[in-house]
This record gives sequence, structure tokens and C-alpha cells, in this order.
Amino acid sequence: MTTAIVPGTFDPITSGHLDIIERAATLFDEVVVGVAASAHKNGTGPLFAAQLRVELICQATAHLPRVRVASFDTLLIDFVRAQKGDVIVKGLRAMTDFELEFQMAALNARMDCEVETLFIMSSPEYMYLSSSAVKEIAALGGSVKGLVPACVEEALLDESR
Ligand code: PNS
Repeated sequence: MTTAIVPGTFDPITSGHLDIIERAATLFDEVVVGVAASAHKNGTGPLFAAQLRVELICQATAHLPRVRVASFDTLLIDFVRAQKGDVIVKGLRAMTDFELEFQMAALNARMDCEVETLFIMSSPEYMYLSSSAVKEIAALGGSVKGLVPACVEEALLDESR
């Protein structure tokens, strides 16, 4: 039984994240989506509370029986151990992702050499999609249809009301 951990901030989950989770679910016996609860990006806290991010991912992955979702507020490597994970799986988009992902994979390997990080190349249609871009489009009144699961579209609309 091989358990993959797919970690991220997921603020909010996008169609690109979902694509990676779906593809990981075809490769591993079990997938645990790990939501970094208090992650700060670009100097600001998350738009959605950790519990809501978890709920949105649960709804978006309801069709995937091998997937479960949990939040964590520790080092990723400690979450991987707590979940008895075998590998960390991350999506890799355009070139800009590479340096940071390479650094995180190397540091995680240094902290636990038994946990491998595997990258799944982003599908071309999601190569330039990010949670930050989605939030900006939604905040300025643009449509995010197709860029995020339907439940997230609703949550973004609620947020802007
Ligand atoms: O959404 P992201 O930016 O791809 O996710 C980044 C994340 C949450 C995987 C990363 O920030 C992380 O692992 N955070 C947990 C704290 C930690 O372990 N930091 C050291 C990583 S080398």
C-alpha cells in the first residue's frame, strides 16, 4: 500500500490542483491532500480559513474514493510521517515553479531521506493557472468558470458579496 501526500496551501483549490490530485489517485493506493493551515504567501494570510479550504477540497474530490483531506500546521515532513506517507507529490507548472520546488524537495529529503518527492507535470491548459490569479480575477469581477471546481466558484462569489 503506497500513500502519496499532495501538499499545498490550496487558497483556494484550482482545476490545476484537482487535475494533479486525480492523476495521483490513478498512481497510488491512497492520496492524502495536505492543507497547510497557516501558510502565508506574498506577505499576506490566506483568503479562506483552513477548515473551509479542507471542505472545498472534500467537495471537489468527492468522486475520488482513494482521496482524503487533512490540514496541518507543522513541518510538511512531520505531516508525511504522521500520515504514514511514502511520497510527496507536487504539480510542476511553468519554469518559474522549478527553483522553489527544487529547494523544498531538497530540504525535505535532507530532513527525511526516506521520503521522495515526485513531480507531475501540469496539464498544458493549467500551466499558467494559480490560486493567486484566480483570486485576483474573482475580486475584480471576472469569471473563474472552469478555472476552479464549481464549489470554489460559489465560495469566491460569497466572498465578494
Ligand atoms: O501551495 P504551495 O505553495 O505549493 O505549498 C507550499 C507548501 C505548503 C507545500 C510548503 O509551504 C510547506 O511544505 N509548508 C509546510 C512547512 C514546511 O515544511 N516548510 C519547509 C519546507 S522545505
